[in-house]
Amino acid sequence: MPYKILFVCLGNICRSPAAENIMNHLIAEANLKDQIICDSAGTSSYHIGAPPDPRMTAAAKARGMTFVGKARQFQKLDFEKFDLILAMDRENYRDILSLDREGKYKHKVKMMCDFCTKYKDKEVPDPYYGGPEGFNYVIDLLMDACNGLLKYIVSNCLKEVV
Ligand code: 4NP
Repeated sequence: MPYKILFVCLGNICRSPAAENIMNHLIAEANLKDQIICDSAGTSSYHIGAPPDPRMTAAAKARGMTFVGKARQFQKLDFEKFDLILAMDRENYRDILSLDREGKYKHKVKMMCDFCTKYKDKEVPDPYYGGPEGFNYVIDLLMDACNGLLKYIVSNCLKEVV
């Protein structure tokens, strides 16, 4: 069974699809496509069905990456389906856990920036209402967090195949 990760933001058109696509690039580079699966979702229903924001896609393209995806809303069933759920900011974290009244899945939900090794940020800033520099910053920050996350998963979560 592959290890399953879900990235979550508010709209699922900027930050979480960027995290998902960047993580998939790193997973492919590390030849771990059979072992780790990524998805993303939004806590809101605002953009259901929409592709990643064109400003995010443009920022990614400038670095040689193609971002794909279709927005969907986070649902309770995701707690069961995924091994690890990464919130981009504290509001996302709270909104995710508001669907887990009993705290049964709290151990699966973590903050994305906890995996940063270079950046000091505690949250991935929402770039939606800002200029293009915000999108570039989110990509740089997520590169750092995704690298740290991949190292963590490889060290702690993958089953050894002997
Ligand atoms: P995201 O960014 O949560 O990173 O996808 C946003 C997208 C849309 C909105 C806010 C943030 N919005 O208010 O529509």
